[in-house]
Amino acid sequence: MLDYLPLCFNVANKPCLIVGGGTIALRKAILLNKAQAKIDVIATVVNPELRALALTSGGEVIIRAFAESDVYRYCFVIAATNITSVNQQVASAANSANVLVNVVDTPSLCDVIFPAIIDRSPLLMSVSSSGNAPVLARSIRSQIESTVPANIGLLADFIADRRQQARLALNDDESRVRLFWETVLETEITESVLAGKMAEAASQFNDFLNAYQSDRVIGEVYLVGAGPGDPDLLTFKALRLMQRADVVLYDRLVAPEIVDMTRRDAERIYVGKVRCKHSLSQQDINQLLIDLALMGKKVVRLKGGDPFIFGRGGEEIEGLAERHIPFQVVPGISAANGCACYSGIPLTHRDHAQSVRFVTGHLKGDSMDLPWSELVAQSQTVVIYMGLTGLDFICQKLIAHGKPGNTAIALIERGTTVDHKAHIGTLSTITGIIEGQTVKAPTLIIIGSVVNLHNSMLGSH
Ligand SMILES: C[S@@+](CC[C@H](N)C(=O)[O-])C[C@H]1O[C@@H](n2cnc3c(N)ncnc32)[C@H](O)[C@@H]1O
Repeated sequence: MLDYLPLCFNVANKPCLIVGGGTIALRKAILLNKAQAKIDVIATVVNPELRALALTSGGEVIIRAFAESDVYRYCFVIAATNITSVNQQVASAANSANVLVNVVDTPSLCDVIFPAIIDRSPLLMSVSSSGNAPVLARSIRSQIESTVPANIGLLADFIADRRQQARLALNDDESRVRLFWETVLETEITESVLAGKMAEAASQFNDFLNAYQSDRVIGEVYLVGAGPGDPDLLTFKALRLMQRADVVLYDRLVAPEIVDMTRRDAERIYVGKVRCKHSLSQQDINQLLIDLALMGKKVVRLKGGDPFIFGRGGEEIEGLAERHIPFQVVPGISAANGCACYSGIPLTHRDHAQSVRFVTGHLKGDSMDLPWSELVAQSQTVVIYMGLTGLDFICQKLIAHGKPGNTAIALIERGTTVDHKAHIGTLSTITGIIEGQTVKAPTLIIIGSVVNLHNSMLGSH
């Protein structure tokens, strides 16, 4: 059983009455005005803002006490005085005249109550606790609000403008039209609208409708940055695209909890890379992305951290771009950002480092191709990815190029995950500090005096 029937009430240009002239009445008037109602106010004293609102809405302000015969001219009456007996009188007059009534903060006297709303006009979402727990309704509204894209109203308008076009193109075939729109909501067209790129979205829509008409739909690829490990560091956009996937390609750096957040029915393909032991070559991965998209699949390629930072994201999209396969790249929190924040190390700091440099410490044979003389510059933080095996080599090279042996260094193990661990030392001591310990990959190295701040800047995560 429903306590109330949820409806959307069109009050545009219709006469509505507010009895009461204070701030509560004003709040209701603001809402009625947004819905373009014609607002009359009856009260002995009227707030100036309320007066102005009523007049601009085309209504009038009547300075006197309420009389029962007042309600007949209206489709909706709101009692918003702070005198209970007057509110009761308004409710009973409205009931006798069969006019809908709302009495502020008194659900037992109401025909209609106001829900908590999320306004992304023309899209409206409302949450009601049937007047029993408004605080709960408002809290749920906030939760929904934080997950609904700000531009969702643009999307509703975009669809409205094209419904007729799609219906004609698809010969009024109802189920085909419905499926078409469901598919549109899962394509880059939607992303373009949400990003406010309307011209791009319009052209993508036309291409898509043409392809759909002739059953030539190709898939898309989303290169999604999954962050360094903590699932809470995923972006809303990453999550949204992960929920659309037909197929997910992921590797070793993506935490299982994150892979589990992809659409339940999606096929999952491990393309993992372990150091010196690639289960699929980079070229195979690039080709697999192309093949799956050409089969019409929506493919999520989950990458640890950010796809464009030591992620070979560029190589993966080259082949897609050549074949005109639609793709999107979703930035992720890179290991440097995640590890630094979760270790209390600001990568730049006015008193310590004015720049930060990201390099790869991948050993090629016994050597490492790095601009050592630039890495020893002062007031700079150096972040080294993939440097664990070459840690000793890196420390020796930096010292040999003039960096003091007592320069602070952090080796961060499994950053941002539940196993997060930071080993802190200096260029001279760090290898000794970790000797005998099993340091688990992945690890990141941060070098510079900012590392010394780690104790004072560590928050809780
Ligand atoms: C191939 S790179 C990928 C980097 C990734 N695209 C990014 O933006 O973080 C892999 C290296 O990133 C670093 N890394 C990634 N996740 C990490 C984590 N949770 N903790 C420490 N280092 C990490 C390690 O140095 C690892 O060897």
